[in-house]
Amino acid sequence: MIKIKVIAGSVRPGRFNIQPATWITDIAKKHQDIEVELIDLQELNLPFYNEPQPAMMGNYQHDHTKKWAKMIAEADGFIFVTPEYNHSYSPVLANAISYLNVEWNYKPVSFVSYGSVAGGARAVEHLRGIAGELRMFDLRDQVLFPNYYFNLDENGKYKFTEQESESANTMLVELSTWAKKLKTARES
Ligand SMILES: Cc1cc2nc3c(=O)[nH]c(=O)nc-3n(C[C@H](O)[C@H](O)[C@H](O)COP(=O)(O)O)c2cc1C
Repeated sequence: MIKIKVIAGSVRPGRFNIQPATWITDIAKKHQDIEVELIDLQELNLPFYNEPQPAMMGNYQHDHTKKWAKMIAEADGFIFVTPEYNHSYSPVLANAISYLNVEWNYKPVSFVSYGSVAGGARAVEHLRGIAGELRMFDLRDQVLFPNYYFNLDENGKYKFTEQESESANTMLVELSTWAKKLKTARES
């Protein structure tokens, strides 16, 4: 079993984020080689980065950082679920990522994104640059939801399609494959 953590990257009241984050978590639960956990940054409630030293020093002072570091250190791979804000990813995700360094290293990351016409693609392109700096392995396959708001029912629930589930499964197979290989590599 490999441990995958899904990180829900919006804390906005009325956020759409929790819908795709829960959806991808539920699909991942059906993969027998994956143990998945959804991390909701709204619940985690990290303050703006307030460690005295840069994360790369690994000398964390605050309990909230130590708790967050433990959650990420035990993971073998990640799915970042991000909205697109001003053609980039959400500030709450940037903040959470910045808190840590070594805990992200040599682990794969996949992406679920949403927004208007670009479906969050521009947010993910920026996250790929961050992944490089953190020695993460960003995987090509991702799930995008362009203009998602046209596909909500009267209760605001998104109607996920079969094609989107297929894309999710392709992404999850890729993620679990590389999570296993990189786990072995880290252990050696
Ligand atoms: C500050 C801000 C900037 C935004 N900029 C973009 C953008 O550049 N591209 C886009 O597709 N959507 C943009 N949007 C629309 C968001 O994608 C949309 O509101 C989405 O629902 C936000 O995710 P959330 O509901 O999970 O918080 C922006 C929304 C906010 C709040």
